[in-house]
Amino acid sequence: MSDDQGFCVWFTGLSGAGKSTIAELLVPELLRRGHKVEALDGDVVRMNLSKGLGFSKEDRDTNILRIGFVAHLLARNGVVAVCSAISPYRGARDHVREQIGDFVEVYVHASLEEVTRRDQKGLYEKALRGEIQNFTGVSDPYEPPENPELAIDTERCTPEEACGMVLDKLAELGYLKDNDLEAEPVNA
Ligand code: ADX
Repeated sequence: MSDDQGFCVWFTGLSGAGKSTIAELLVPELLRRGHKVEALDGDVVRMNLSKGLGFSKEDRDTNILRIGFVAHLLARNGVVAVCSAISPYRGARDHVREQIGDFVEVYVHASLEEVTRRDQKGLYEKALRGEIQNFTGVSDPYEPPENPELAIDTERCTPEEACGMVLDKLAELGYLKDNDLEAEPVNA
C-alpha cells in the first residue's frame, strides 16, 4: 500500500509565458524528492487524448476537463499531476479545482509584448497577421486566476527561480516530501 499524497500542480497562462518550461524543471525535482509524477501538457494532450479538438470555447473547455479528469485519477492514486495548458477560462479551471481538491494553481504571466517577442513557435506573428483565428491573448480571451496559489512573472525571474518558487509554495502548503533532499539535483 502506498501512502503517497497525490495532488495537482496546474500551470495556466498565455502560450509562451513559460508553463511547460517550468513544468519540465519541476518534474525531476519532484521525482528527486520521492514523489510519483506524471506530466500532462496541452501541446502533447492535443496530439492524443484531445486530438481533433480546436480552439473554440467549447473545445478548449473539453480539453481542460479531460486533462483535469486524468489529473483527478492520478492525484487520487498518489501521483503528482503536473498540468500545463493555457486553460483560458476560469469556469473550467475552477471545475477542475473542485474535482481534484488538492489543487495548486500557478498563474504563469508574461506580457503580450514579451510572449510576442519570445514567439517560440511563430504563432503570435501569424495571429497578429490574422492567419490564425481565435488566438489567446490576441483575438481570444484569457481570464487570469483571481486567487491562484502562486503567480509568477516570468519577465522578472529565470525558469530555475520560477521552479524554486513553485517548490517553496508546495512546501509551504505541506505537499512536498523532503526525505531525499540531500540527493544531487538532477540537473547539477
Ligand atoms: S487550451 O486553451 O485548450 O488550454 P492548450 O494549452 O491545450 O490550449 O494548447 C495551446 C497550444 O496550441 C499553444 O501553445 C499553441 O501552440 C497552439 N495553438 C494553436 N492555435 C491556437 C489558438 N488559436 N490559441 C491558442 N493556442 C493555439
